[in-house]
Amino acid sequence: MADKDEPLVLGIETSCDETGVGIVRGHTLLANTIASSMHEHARFGGVVPEVASRAHLEAMTPVVEGALAEAGLTFSDIDAIAVTAGPGLAGALLVGVAAAKSYSLGLGVPLYGVNHLAAHVAVDQLEHGPLPKPCIAMLVSGGHSSLLLVPDVAQDVISLGSTVDDAAGEAFDKVARVLGLPFPGGPYIDRAAREGSATAIGFPRGKMDDGTLDFSFSGLKTAVARWVEAQESVHVPDVAASFQEAVVDVLTRKALQACKKYDVKDLLIGGGVAANSRLRALAQERCDKAGVRLRVPRPGLCTDNGAMVAALGSDLVAAGITPSALDIPADSSMPVTTVHV
Ligand code: KG4
Ligand code: ZN
Repeated sequence: MADKDEPLVLGIETSCDETGVGIVRGHTLLANTIASSMHEHARFGGVVPEVASRAHLEAMTPVVEGALAEAGLTFSDIDAIAVTAGPGLAGALLVGVAAAKSYSLGLGVPLYGVNHLAAHVAVDQLEHGPLPKPCIAMLVSGGHSSLLLVPDVAQDVISLGSTVDDAAGEAFDKVARVLGLPFPGGPYIDRAAREGSATAIGFPRGKMDDGTLDFSFSGLKTAVARWVEAQESVHVPDVAASFQEAVVDVLTRKALQACKKYDVKDLLIGGGVAANSRLRALAQERCDKAGVRLRVPRPGLCTDNGAMVAALGSDLVAAGITPSALDIPADSSMPVTTVHV
């Protein structure tokens, strides 16, 4: 149960195509409302930044009001506003940051500009309670693939590795396009793969045992495209399953290498690709073998949402962090080590 003394934080997320507003009290989730402009981007095969910005502008007020209604609250109940200040699409971020500043000023409550990636980590606390300190976090989505050492999500996030080319979700989306599946392709590949064989085709595992904690998926994507081109007829489920296996094999192997290297016994996986059923299963299997505890938020909290921003905002308030100035910029390339601004 929420403790009435804990502050009520409203979080705003607009870094990509989701306009998300979440409300939390401490680590209790009270509302998580989302409007997505994905249907407007689907025919382009990727998110169109200008279209996303305009959609955020139209969705912002209704989504904020929807979240308040969902929680049974009014504006006067809100104690603090948190907002994704970066990284993400510049114009999209700008809409959320401008809205957050307005709400902060209008309601006379503090503003916390937060890092989108740290928010992906913090959100798990809404489902599984306080994060162990430290933990290793692997964030895999359409925009990012990172391995992080997280001593304290409110103040200290250390980058251990990231993709040197495509993000994991981007690889899913591009391979789905090659296979004639809709955008975004991750869930379609996940579904198709269930009918196929993961060992049908031996696709390359980029940077698998190179001694780093970085990833590379563009070679794999090209290998799948070449393989498909060379066939007269393609059994989509086998290609999907074999491709998916190559991705999740590398992801889980590197995540456990990070746990071993830093002697950390708790692994968190977040971001849209964490919804992948094979990734969840293989991660669980390998964690069990290595004596590592695995935490994966439910799919609705893995993909971009406002609750994750509110969750991190709540941690910042609890840690007594100084609120952000009202002139903070939206920083499209904010480094992961900057938890808040
Ligand atoms: O975190 P997210 O909603 O947005 C950002 O990119 O920040 O992640 C979206 C990505 C897309 O690339 C989508 O294809 C992928 O997550 N995704 C999946 C699955 N569900 C979503 N990838 C693999 N398997 C899934 N089940
Ligand atoms: Zn994200």
